[in-house]
Amino acid sequence: MHKIGRGYPIVLGHRGASGYAPENTMKSFKLALDMDADGVELDVQMTYDGKLVVIHDELIDRTSNGKGWVKDHTLEELKEFNFNNHMEGYGFCEIPTLDEVLELFRGTGKLINIEIKSNIINYPGITKAVIDMVREHDMQDHVIYSSFNHQTCLEVEEYDPDAYVGFLYEDGFLNVPEYVRQNHGDALHPALYFLLDPLYMPRARKNGLEVNVWTINEEYQMELGCKLGITTIITNYPDRALRIVEKYKKN
Ligand code: G3P
Ligand code: CA
Repeated sequence: MHKIGRGYPIVLGHRGASGYAPENTMKSFKLALDMDADGVELDVQMTYDGKLVVIHDELIDRTSNGKGWVKDHTLEELKEFNFNNHMEGYGFCEIPTLDEVLELFRGTGKLINIEIKSNIINYPGITKAVIDMVREHDMQDHVIYSSFNHQTCLEVEEYDPDAYVGFLYEDGFLNVPEYVRQNHGDALHPALYFLLDPLYMPRARKNGLEVNVWTINEEYQMELGCKLGITTIITNYPDRALRIVEKYKKN
């Protein structure tokens, strides 16, 4: 996929519309679609039996009624737990597979930012498995890959030279735009605070990079993102961001 920028920010629901519904569940993704977000961001990890599941943490304790590592459970076992993130009113929420989420988004024209969680556990073959799954669903033109593990970013480029790849980072490294360009990335995926540097956006542009920023939840931050010309607002509140972007487009 080539550039995604369009002159005003794209709005992606971070872990779905996770400000309202349990993160990284079908309910959260469907809510983001109902809000007419431009797409969602999600996190992928791998089960004991090599299945790709959508969950942020390596452990299931925080978001479900189960315990232990994703890598130590089979998909069948994980499907027994309730991933409602302890939120009232959501009943039973299964852990989604990447397969199920791609099927939900197929044909909608919406984007999915797949963050490959390979920075804590070294899941064997996860990058290739994700790319193969995206190809199976013919969603290559609708996927943004990202990772904090930049070796994974390089692997994505290797397995799919046409893939759109964003380099995630949150620490205060120097010369990141130059580094990402040299490593053939398409986009910077910085934590929000990098926008405080007035030279950040000019430097990104100079290096031909798009800027997909997380996690922008406050209105004043969304307004700043619009003014600075960032490519994407990744937010827990897609409805809020869509309103701000709409206002910005009118002015
Ligand atoms: O992809 C943006 C953001 O989700 C990265 O941080 O910890 O929320 O996965 P984290
Ligand atoms: Ca993420």
